Amino acid sequence: MIDMTGIFGDKNAPAHHDGHPRILALANQKGGVGKTTTAINLGTALAAIGERVLIVDLDPQGNASTGLGIDRRNRNCSTYDVLIGEAKLRDAIMPTAVPRLHIASSTMDLSGVTARSVCAMRSPI
Ligand SMILES: Nc1ncnc2c1ncn2[C@@H]1O[C@H](COP(=O)(O)OP(=O)(O)O)[C@@H](O)[C@H]1O
Ligand SMILES: [Mg+2]
Repeated sequence: MIDMTGIFGDKNAPAHHDGHPRILALANQKGGVGKTTTAINLGTALAAIGERVLIVDLDPQGNASTGLGIDRRNRNCSTYDVLIGEAKLRDAIMPTAVPRLHIASSTMDLSGVTARSVCAMRSPI
C-alpha cells in the first residue's frame, strides 16, 4: 500500500472515502477496444468530481501518458523502473494539466518486462 498523502494532500477528499484507494484495472489483450480512451476520460471525469486519481500506465505504447500531455523526453522515471524494482512508484508520478489527476508514465522499455515475465513463468521451478 502506498501512502499518497504527501503527493495529493488531504484537502477536498470526498466524504465517502474510507481512506483506502479504489483500484480500477482497464485491461484487454485485444488492441483498439478503448482501454486508453476509457482510462483518460474516466480518470479526468473522476478528478472533475473531486476524486484524487492516479493513472498507472502499464502499456508499453504509453498512449495514456502521451494523451495526458507527458512528453516522452520527460519520462525519466517510468512504470518500467518501478516494476523492475529500481524506483518507487511515487518517484514515477507526475501531475497532469487536470487538477487532482496524476499519472505514472510508461515507456517502450515495458515491452521487455512483458517478455521477461513470460520467460519467467515458462521456466521450470
Ligand atoms: N467509446 C468509443 N466510441 C468510439 N470510438 C472509441 C471509443 N473508445 C475509443 N474509441 C476509439 O477507438 C480507438 C482505439 O481506442 P484506444 O483507447 O486507443 O484503445 P486501446 O487502448 O484498447 O488500444 C481510438 O481511435 C479511439 O478514439
Ligand atoms: Mg491503449
